[in-house]
Amino acid sequence: KKLEPQTTRETSFIGKMKKTGKNIVVFYGSQTGTAEEFANRLAKDAHRYGMKGMAADPEEYDMSELSRLTEVENSIAIFCMATYGEGDPTDNAQDFYDWLQEGDADFSGVKYTVFALGNKTYEHYNSMGKYVDKRLAELGARRIFDLGMGDDDGKNQTFKLEEMEPFDSKNPFLAAVTVNRKLNKAGDRHLMHLELDITGSKIRYESGDHVAVYPINDSVIVNRIGDLLGVDLDTVISLNNLDEESNKKHPFPCPSTYRTALTHYLDITNPPRTNVLYELAQYATEPKDQENMRKMASSSPEGKALYQSWVLDSCRNILAILEDFPSLRPPIDHLCELLPRLQARYYSIASSSKVHANSIHICAVVVEYETKTGRVNKGVATNWLKNKMPTDNGHKATVPMYIRKSQFRLPFKSTNPVIMVGPGTGIAPFMGFVQERGWLKEQGKDVGDTVLYYGCRYKKEDFLYQEELEEFEKTGVLTALNVAFSRDQAEKVYVQHLLKKNKEAVWRLVHSDNAHIYICGDARNMARDVQNAFYEIAEELGGLSRSQAVDYVKKLMTKGRYSQDVWS
Ligand code: FAD
Ligand code: 2AM
Repeated sequence: KKLEPQTTRETSFIGKMKKTGKNIVVFYGSQTGTAEEFANRLAKDAHRYGMKGMAADPEEYDMSELSRLTEVENSIAIFCMATYGEGDPTDNAQDFYDWLQEGDADFSGVKYTVFALGNKTYEHYNSMGKYVDKRLAELGARRIFDLGMGDDDGKNQTFKLEEMEPFDSKNPFLAAVTVNRKLNKAGDRHLMHLELDITGSKIRYESGDHVAVYPINDSVIVNRIGDLLGVDLDTVISLNNLDEESNKKHPFPCPSTYRTALTHYLDITNPPRTNVLYELAQYATEPKDQENMRKMASSSPEGKALYQSWVLDSCRNILAILEDFPSLRPPIDHLCELLPRLQARYYSIASSSKVHANSIHICAVVVEYETKTGRVNKGVATNWLKNKMPTDNGHKATVPMYIRKSQFRLPFKSTNPVIMVGPGTGIAPFMGFVQERGWLKEQGKDVGDTVLYYGCRYKKEDFLYQEELEEFEKTGVLTALNVAFSRDQAEKVYVQHLLKKNKEAVWRLVHSDNAHIYICGDARNMARDVQNAFYEIAEELGGLSRSQAVDYVKKLMTKGRYSQDVWS
């Protein structure tokens, strides 16, 4: 198969390596930029070992040249491969993956190593990295270093983005916020329901899809960084890549101002990675500060432990670091170069396009927490969304957004029963599912059982969408509304407890009636605990051993009858 490049740029990486004297090529399969960032770092680091590296997007090059890498003397191919969703490649690695699978290439003599990026809380942990590592060896390439397994547990996930004309990640639609209401009746959290107007945009979506929104950073943090570094944030700047060969001339759209860069383009709230600390250390004038920063960036056990506790566990962002290392005053240009890009945030769409063709609903909880240093950290997107009121001084509040397709879909046949398990904001996609099942019924379709397991803390506080759900139950759209109130009594009651309590009915729906199971919400504990409950039910009512029960659920997954939409 011919791999078609997307642009008219040079598509021969071998040609480019020869021309520029590079001997390491670092390919990245990247969705949100992490693998790309790693690849760029590795390529830059090559000089420390007397080599010259370049990072390369597999989508932009003719990957069939890989078998000719031996033409470049002393060469190595490194692959930084992210996995997302159900073990899929990233969009930019899809063609490469398909081509590898076809498998008639001969990579004899090609030296390679793979670093996999993924998240352990997912079933298909690092499957893309593992596949590339194994497949290259099968096709004759020589593994010069063991597969690296990166685990980003708890950090932003990488997922498939299927571009949706005419709006996508590079060209988002500015949707007006038409509704923004608080969902919980009491409690100190803020759970919210938003509606984004997509009238006239030609954007289409399906229940189960995600909406991605581009937030902006809090001006208080931006101003404070400007103050600490003593810069005029409104200076017009252009940050240019000194590497003439790079396909990216600027790290973000330029010309710009420091204020725009820090507000719209750069991630200033996640704890910085160790390479950022390493690069910044040179600007700390206090030897102790410099030493501590270098230590945290090192791979020594004490250094790693210090980074873990002082940066990660203490949730220190770049501002907190500048505050707590008073002698550290880096030039803002270098800081802007080092900080990663601000990423879009994803939300499971809480509406059905059959009922709301022109609006997209979001159900989200505002992130706000106190760190170990006593600072209050606020989630970028949720705090920004919270303040997006439909009319703000007569102006329409808008949100840059696009749709990301998902695999989380209602059964093709409406007669199939569905069991939906979604505590907390995990209710979001099920609002869409339930609306859609109601609509199907109205169309005169036969609709199978529609069973919901929802969980919240207190019936009187955070029973989200209570009125809507009870109405759906009354009209028979929801055949069963099971709600676990975790804190209304002494002992915790969770969704999985209710599933176990109703195990006979659950098993009948799954085993005899071909029900589809959906889990949405917290990826950390809930999804695993609920899966265990299904194992136990299969053991008890199906008379299966544990390993048979595990296989049983696995089979449901491969048949698309057990789907998860989970995040951490
Ligand atoms: P950020 O600025 O990104 O801050 C969040 C980060 O803060 C966390 O990653 C964590 O590192 C840290 N943090 C948060 N709380 C604490 C704490 N108590 N202690 C220490 N650190 C903490 N969210 C929804 O509300 N509804 C949805 O329907 C939804 N759907 C999603 C679907 C997908 C596919 C994915 C990947 C995520 C989804 N999310 C959803 C999560 C959402 O994308 C955002 O991550 C979330 O809203 C927080 O974004 P933020 O910018 O406000 O916070
Ligand atoms: P808790 O906070 O009282 O422990 C939505 O967040 C609901 O999910 C809350 O009622 C929360 O209960 C509950 N929850 C917390 N951990 C859970 C888990 N591991 N499995 C299922 N539900 C859980």
